[in-house]
Amino acid sequence: MTSIPEFMTHMHRECDELFSEAEAAVAKQDWPLALTKWQGFASELTKHFNQEEEVLFPKFEQATGMTAGPTQVMRMEHQQMRAIVQDLDNALAAKQKDEYLGLSETLMVTMQQHNMKEEMMLYPMMEQNIAEGEQIIESFKASSVI
Ligand SMILES: [Fe+2]
Ligand SMILES: [Fe+2]
Repeated sequence: MTSIPEFMTHMHRECDELFSEAEAAVAKQDWPLALTKWQGFASELTKHFNQEEEVLFPKFEQATGMTAGPTQVMRMEHQQMRAIVQDLDNALAAKQKDEYLGLSETLMVTMQQHNMKEEMMLYPMMEQNIAEGEQIIESFKASSVI
């Protein structure tokens, strides 16, 4: 059985890895590799955000009654990251190396701060408050492509 913090933290690491592989490929101007890594990252990140926004955040809000607390901040940060991801997607499509690397730095910092807050605070709170955490993670695993 996998806990919420364990599973979701692992997903952060997988995203980080694909993200830095995409960045390294852009730095070498290996565009086909960059595109593969980037698409892998973007689809993992989208899935991860959806699992949080559609399943875990609502469950946490229901369980604690905290609807205007940390989950709202996390949702807002997801929107900020989605906007940067869109800009990165455009930079990659246009093969704008410097633009991509600049944006990549911004996303990395934003993402690290966000993930840190989830890992240190929100996921442990979820683990304590969401009774059916294990079933939720099992369903995430079942719907996972990797
Ligand atoms: Fe998040
Ligand atoms: Fe997360």
